[in-house]
Amino acid sequence: MDQEQLFTEEYARTQDEQDPLKDFRDHFAIPTKADLIRPNIGGKKDETNKELSTYLCGNSLGVQPTLTRKYFEEYLSTWAQKGVFAHFKELSDTRLSPYIDVDEDVRGDMAQIVGAKKEEVAVMNTLTVNLHFLMCSFYKPTKDRHKILIEGRAFPSDHFAVESQIRFHGFDPNDSMVFLEPPSDADSMLSTEYILSVIDQHASELALVLLPGIQYYTGQFFDMAAITAHTRSQGIISGWDLAHAAGNVPLHLHDWNVDFAAWCTYKYLNSGPGSIGGSFVHERHGQVKNVGTEDDPAFEYRPRLQGWWGSQKSSRFAMSNNFEPIPGAAGFQVSNISVADTTAVRASLDVFNQTSMSAIRAKSLKITAYLEQLLDLLLKEQEAKFGIKLFHIITPRNPDERGAQLSVKLERGLLDLIMEILEHNSIVVDERRPDVVRVAPAPLYNSYQDVRHFVKVFREACEEVYSKDQDLRVKGR
Ligand SMILES: Cc1ncc(COP(=O)(O)O)c(C=O)c1O
Repeated sequence: MDQEQLFTEEYARTQDEQDPLKDFRDHFAIPTKADLIRPNIGGKKDETNKELSTYLCGNSLGVQPTLTRKYFEEYLSTWAQKGVFAHFKELSDTRLSPYIDVDEDVRGDMAQIVGAKKEEVAVMNTLTVNLHFLMCSFYKPTKDRHKILIEGRAFPSDHFAVESQIRFHGFDPNDSMVFLEPPSDADSMLSTEYILSVIDQHASELALVLLPGIQYYTGQFFDMAAITAHTRSQGIISGWDLAHAAGNVPLHLHDWNVDFAAWCTYKYLNSGPGSIGGSFVHERHGQVKNVGTEDDPAFEYRPRLQGWWGSQKSSRFAMSNNFEPIPGAAGFQVSNISVADTTAVRASLDVFNQTSMSAIRAKSLKITAYLEQLLDLLLKEQEAKFGIKLFHIITPRNPDERGAQLSVKLERGLLDLIMEILEHNSIVVDERRPDVVRVAPAPLYNSYQDVRHFVKVFREACEEVYSKDQDLRVKGR
């Protein structure tokens, strides 16, 4: 096909018409252009401008499913009308469960998203908190094995969590943190072979390898199966931060034998800012054995930080001080669950339930490849026109090594003006200073026309910055 044809509105429209997930866009409240500009949330809602913004930022905060408002209204009515009775009362006209069961209600569907058994998943706390709780149970440093391997460019919260866990156990982060750095500055990718070689290098001293499923900055999707297998074969615990992977790419946490994982629900899982997180504990770590008798039970289980919500539901309100963990990940819960948060998660999962992660991935591969093709065309055009490329893509070019997101690294100094022009055109993407723009077509609600529109405006923005930047013009021609 003629490459230029890819850029036509007609091509993008045809792709949208043929998209098996096209109707899902209607299940989301995508901000309109007027919504984004208005200085308030609705006092003076501009009903004349219903044009939608181009929202390509699901890697940061997913948009709101329309079901969320409906379920929140039910949640608010339930609380207002039933008060404390809603803890246990089944209600006939709401999708929502009694408060006591809301965590149970979302676990099975969440497990589908991450490729786990229902018992291996709990919806609880928030991401960094879950990493801490899980490390409390899984990071057992000894004099010989006390190190944790993380990326040198890990998300700061993961870095802080690991650093503080090491200190908390009486070790020194200078001795006990091992950083995985890209082998060369020019290439930010970490090949599987390289990662395994770094694990080998430190294996005898490593207690834990904690990596992201998808790297937040570059968008690299690590080979979780191979890394987990290698880590575990050396007697090291394998933990994963799945903030950018959950709801983005198919995962098989159970089959990959991952020891533990944690994720948030506000990115590709569309459950609202700061919403409740998810955690995975492989079934081999969640077992509970009664080593006493039926009348006088004594339980054996993996040590953890305990709270009443991790103890068996049947005895929870008996106010006994005998902790009897729920088998599986639910036994790692601590506090009673935020019903507001799980209401949002319920709404999101009810959208995911109408399709599958494999259908989502099929569209994701196609729509992100389309974004890549258009950006490549733009690069060719810039080279011919300016004698210089104003950006390059730092995300792996191999589709198996990335999710929805492409990270575009701009020439130094261009970020502010480019972002200003994008925002002025109601395009929502996010920036990582000093010069990266992250663009993520979310398969459930983004269209090929969104992608085309972004690249069209990005092209104009590049032309504008080039025309204004004397240094670039000297560098080019
Ligand atoms: C990779 C990664 N890890 C950790 C976090 C922190 O998440 P939270 O604030 O929910 O603990 C984020 C937040 O965006 C993230 O992207």
